[in-house]
Amino acid sequence: MSFLSKRINEQQQREQEEIRARENIANADGEDLDELFGEDPEPKKVQKLKPKKKEAPKKNSNKADLPVDPNLVSVNTPTPFQVGAGTTKVVVNEVRPDGSWILDTGYVVPPKDRTPLKIAKLRRQLRSKLLAFPDEADDWSRHDDDKCKLIEDRLKTVIKKLGEQLSANEYEMLREALLNDLLGFGAIEPLVQDKSYSEIMVNGPDVVFAEYKGKLTETEIVFDDEDHAFWTAQKIVRPLMRTLNRENPMVDARLPDGSRVHLITLPSALQGTTMTIRKFPDKRLTVEDLIKFGSFTSQVGEFFEASVVSRLNIVVSGGTGSGKTTLLNVLSSFIPEDERIITVEDSAELQLAQRHVVRLETAPPIPGEEEIGKLEIRDLVKGTLRMRPDRLVVGECRSGEALDMLQAMNTGHDGSLTTVHSNSPRDAVARLETLCMMAGMDLPVEVIRSQIAAAIHMFVQQARLKDGSRKVVQVTEMQGMEGTRVTLQDIFVYKTPDHRGQGYSHEGGGDLEATGFPPKFLETFKQYGFNLPPRIFKGGSF
Ligand SMILES: Nc1ncnc2c1ncn2[C@@H]1O[C@H](COP(=O)(O)OP(=O)(O)O)[C@@H](O)[C@H]1O
Ligand SMILES: [Mg+2]
Repeated sequence: MSFLSKRINEQQQREQEEIRARENIANADGEDLDELFGEDPEPKKVQKLKPKKKEAPKKNSNKADLPVDPNLVSVNTPTPFQVGAGTTKVVVNEVRPDGSWILDTGYVVPPKDRTPLKIAKLRRQLRSKLLAFPDEADDWSRHDDDKCKLIEDRLKTVIKKLGEQLSANEYEMLREALLNDLLGFGAIEPLVQDKSYSEIMVNGPDVVFAEYKGKLTETEIVFDDEDHAFWTAQKIVRPLMRTLNRENPMVDARLPDGSRVHLITLPSALQGTTMTIRKFPDKRLTVEDLIKFGSFTSQVGEFFEASVVSRLNIVVSGGTGSGKTTLLNVLSSFIPEDERIITVEDSAELQLAQRHVVRLETAPPIPGEEEIGKLEIRDLVKGTLRMRPDRLVVGECRSGEALDMLQAMNTGHDGSLTTVHSNSPRDAVARLETLCMMAGMDLPVEVIRSQIAAAIHMFVQQARLKDGSRKVVQVTEMQGMEGTRVTLQDIFVYKTPDHRGQGYSHEGGGDLEATGFPPKFLETFKQYGFNLPPRIFKGGSF
């Protein structure tokens, strides 16, 4: 037997032993501890992933068709091999010395920071055993030293009782892991704490992406297993009086700090518990930030200021995460101090500095009820009209409220602002038509269209470009109706040097160029004291 094949054999033996050890952990689930601390007060309803049939990868197998436990893959693992099964299957072509994988698609999976077996086992056994009852720690903070100390004291007692031998390093690792599980967000706690991460996306226990300073990348973080991810998801929603289980496999909620969380689990989420957390920024980006980031120039910024002060009705349009809310916030910041602003949002994200602001947010029904206590965007928008607003700012039109918004804009509430989800200003018109139909008033489409043409003065398109940057890519003026068609005129369009054809470019590195058509509201701007230099509307970039 050659030296190499001997090493591979040894490696396979080690891996099989580890597989057996892991299966034992999954089966044990803390029975020995039940004797010490009594039965788990609330038997876990965790739905486990079906145990995968595990076998060590075969030597020289061309394309192993067996799922491989990612924990057991090492540089010496023969490649290619396959991880996962069915729709979540990936083929690994190479394992690099740093532990990263190169998939057959060319994608590089970063090295993963996995909890060592021994610690993962204890973490799993102990996380439900260190609390007097399951929700004891739900309102304890990870930053509360007294509570951390309390958990740590219990941990020390338990370890002693179990007779576990842990090195100082191992103990530290276990302590951190358990504090994160019991008082924080489990494996993703470091990402939650670090303010540079704006979004965290958990696609099942093994794949965690995060947006760091505007760039979305896969992280080294993993949950120990599906139980761990599911346990964490439940811990996130329990203090909000919500449940994630087979009856409620999907939850959309807001955390006390304003962050949004969306959770979906098995059987719909095929890779396992999936979490999407969008953090509430400490400080919203300002117009200066957006100019600094190159989202638009200072002249365009001045043009936006003139548009808002001159009471244009503006719709910000764009895809999810393109920066609509951020831009809406910036536009709203131009509203003068002496005007009464009412904001209506699904979950309050806007941060306005003005004094005279009334902030409204939708209300869910009271727990256990379907309708009682519920207020939707539509109810709030209708209500605001009796609250004497000078300006109505609606976070996003997603349904029938679009019609109420248009009516408000058409009946003396000029200078209102909102966002819609769409890919271009032309698309936004179509989208608004659809949303207005959802109001269920049975209005003919021509009537809706003429309402749109009369109400909206300007569309600002926001996009996340292929290089990850977010920019204003189109500013379009409403011209009115021509027959049964709504006519639009672009004022600025984002172009890259080799961009041909209609619409804006999706590549990075371009400029927002004037189309050469000055907007018709230049006269209104003058009445409000804005004398914008005509050159900013002359064709080409500036
Ligand atoms: N122009 C921009 N440049 C850089 N980052 C931005 C910009 N606009 C928004 N962001 C960031 O992008 C993320 C999503 O922005 P948000 O306004 O919430 O998007 P949307 O409302 O379209 O879903 C936030 O983290 C925000 O800080
Ligand atoms: Mg938004």
